[in-house]
Amino acid sequence: MRRITLINGDGIGPEICDSVVKIIDASGLKIDWDVQTAGSDVIKTEGTPLPERVLESVKKNGIALKAPVTTPIGKGFRSVNVQLRKELNLYANLRPCKNLPGVKTRFDNVDLVVVRENTEDLYAGIEEKIDENTAHSIKIITREASERICRFAFDYAVKNNRHEVCCVTKANIMKLSDGLFLESFRNISSEYPQIMSREILVDNLCMQLVQDPTRFDVLVLPNLYGDIVSDLTAGLIGGLGVAQGANIGENCAVFEPVHGSAPDIKGQNKANPTALLLSAVEMLKYIKEDIYANKIEKALFKTLSEGYKTVDLDGNLSTSEFTDKIITNLCV
Ligand code: NAI
Repeated sequence: MRRITLINGDGIGPEICDSVVKIIDASGLKIDWDVQTAGSDVIKTEGTPLPERVLESVKKNGIALKAPVTTPIGKGFRSVNVQLRKELNLYANLRPCKNLPGVKTRFDNVDLVVVRENTEDLYAGIEEKIDENTAHSIKIITREASERICRFAFDYAVKNNRHEVCCVTKANIMKLSDGLFLESFRNISSEYPQIMSREILVDNLCMQLVQDPTRFDVLVLPNLYGDIVSDLTAGLIGGLGVAQGANIGENCAVFEPVHGSAPDIKGQNKANPTALLLSAVEMLKYIKEDIYANKIEKALFKTLSEGYKTVDLDGNLSTSEFTDKIITNLCV
């Protein structure tokens, strides 16, 4: 039986994890879940929000399904999510964004993929207070990490029959840092003549995405722009409740939704488990359990197409009722 690390997170994390584990179990696939807690509750007992045992578990199993973990704003400990990606060298954050059956949004035919560099940029967390009224954050961009993520984006395009990779920067202003990312993109793109390459400034991209997202295919971005743009693209397909993601490295992969811990709806049985479920479906495909992945995806799509939805999608089902509908549809 395959052993997979399950980081059940906090906020709505445990609720959506329960839902997804139940659905996978009902599909007939047996998984040996190695449950690992992380985040603020763990600090009280273990003195850190990201104990070594969590990292060791992911390294050993090579794969994890992760629910969101809260990060205190403006103070407190560093993000567990950022630390995890850095410590495990999960350099590529893959966030596909495609319309779902039964979820009506402003645009049809949205089908794009955000490939976000996951280890550096302003997320390196190098900040200093110069004096009471001045603070610096350092934006790190290296050729090595930029070429690696651009190569990942082009390889993804080749493997998934995509036709174009578009590099997103603000290299007109940050000529050295974003300039290096763009230069790396140009170097790598020359190795993939079969894939079209394109360049765009991040502000123009945002405007064009809300005008007509069908103009885009694969986007490759430095960390911060990737984080922001992928929330925007989540909005194009129904919101954070349906936006899936994966963090991929050389030796392990952690599958997690785009959204955070949603403290505003925690414990209310209201959260949409779709984003975590779709992340889990991709995880099952990654470990070559395609039969179960397709079975679960089909049941989810059928449920949504029949009009059964959670509150964030203007439906009226609770998390547990929606979960039960998907399980029913697994069996038909
Ligand atoms: P958020 O993504 O948690 O919530 C934004 C809005 O979307 C809220 O109104 C929330 O109710 C709604 N929402 C999110 N997921 C939903 C779901 N599955 N079903 C229905 N509605 C959903 O973003 P926010 O509020 O900015 O961040 C909350 C915390 O989460 C922060 O501490 C942040 O640092 C953390 N966070 C963690 C991430 C991770 O673990 N990978 C990613 C993003 C944020």
